[in-house]
Amino acid sequence: MDEVQARGFHEFMCYVNPMLAQRAQLGGEPWHVVATDDGRLVHSDGRIYEDFHGTQALGHRNPHITAAVKCFLDTDAPNWYPARVTPYAGRLARMLAERTGYERSSFAASGSEGVEAAMKLARAATHRTRILGLDGAYHGCGMGSTALMAKGPFRDPFGPHVPGVESLPFGDLDALHAAFAAGDVAAVVVEPIQGEAGVRVLPDDYVAALCELTARHDALLVADEVQTGLGRTGTFLRSVRWPRRPDAVVLAKLLGGGLVATSAMLTTPAWFQRAYGRDFEGGESHNVTFGYNAMSMVAGIAALELLDEALFERIRTLGAWFRAELVGQLGDHPLVEEVRGEGLMLGLKLRRLDHPWLSFEHFGFEGLAERASVSPLLCHRLYRHGWFFFTCGHDWSVFRLQPRYYVPQETLAQVIVDIRTELDWLLETSR
Ligand SMILES: Cc1ncc(COP(=O)(O)O)c(C=O)c1O
Repeated sequence: MDEVQARGFHEFMCYVNPMLAQRAQLGGEPWHVVATDDGRLVHSDGRIYEDFHGTQALGHRNPHITAAVKCFLDTDAPNWYPARVTPYAGRLARMLAERTGYERSSFAASGSEGVEAAMKLARAATHRTRILGLDGAYHGCGMGSTALMAKGPFRDPFGPHVPGVESLPFGDLDALHAAFAAGDVAAVVVEPIQGEAGVRVLPDDYVAALCELTARHDALLVADEVQTGLGRTGTFLRSVRWPRRPDAVVLAKLLGGGLVATSAMLTTPAWFQRAYGRDFEGGESHNVTFGYNAMSMVAGIAALELLDEALFERIRTLGAWFRAELVGQLGDHPLVEEVRGEGLMLGLKLRRLDHPWLSFEHFGFEGLAERASVSPLLCHRLYRHGWFFFTCGHDWSVFRLQPRYYVPQETLAQVIVDIRTELDWLLETSR
């Protein structure tokens, strides 16, 4: 362990966010990780953890991404180009266009910035203000994306929210039609599968109506594919299965290969032209200083090199097997209500445990009394087996399963055994 690793965890607690650090410790999370091993995490006590959070889809410190960034740093090419015309951004954008058909890319660092870019594109192109999202959404923590956020701690403290931004009830066709009646909608922003709301797939009839209404009313249809995209559900974009291609797509997380912060908002030349094609000032009016930095673009190029059809086929096959095993081996468990999701984006909807000792209230967190505790408790128990799990951010009753794409099948088989053991233990304890 180097000097930073020896002291830095404590310094995080003191100078970054004590609440985050305390939660990790109280929850028994493997938070003192000091190294990586073949895509997994190594704790300071030597224990190795497989990470099911989902953000490191290519595994921690993927060697191909690491080598590409190292190789770039060994050149004397600039990382930042004062005119912003960056060859590595050009190459990454071309590769994205070849994979998706979208011939305009706007790069930044976070998914939230990608969503903000789509919201601004819609307003600039349509000269309208209304932007619609769905209940249960998670689009990030910028002011625009916070306005689209599900009600609760990620949204409520930060009002008043951006005017003109509204949430519609999830899957409610009547409400969707009513929202379009006035013909003043600039954009609708949706996740093809809502991740933090508990792995909720947007119903087909709702998607069909969304595609039709946005096209008819000349509103921008935005697919936030920060979780679903880049292979997670077995295709490059999840929205390829929609009746029409969305007008804009947001990608992040894996786009930087898990090594650097990179995001992209993809759109068509026609939408870009309407919003930003007026003159040179207009062309620069949405700008992120480090959005095109070469090192991030190099990581993105390397990530795309790995995302080929063979890997997607693996994700589809392994994901279908994993889902079937979860249903077969856990579906009858009294604490399991439903197995959700597609590809390697799965979730277990768990029933509530009606025992006062197993509630947050019992541990002194009265503000969390209403929150479902089974999934957080299950995570806590599974840390001891060497698995890093999380609940869905908005719906704590859903246990999130997003392994890395290269996870061995035997690992998934063992995970199911351990989940069953711990669910049995929780059930016994609650009796
Ligand atoms: C669907 C979705 N959109 C947007 C975001 C925001 O991304 P970031 O945290 O990089 O701003 C997230 C983050 O988890 C997400 O899950």
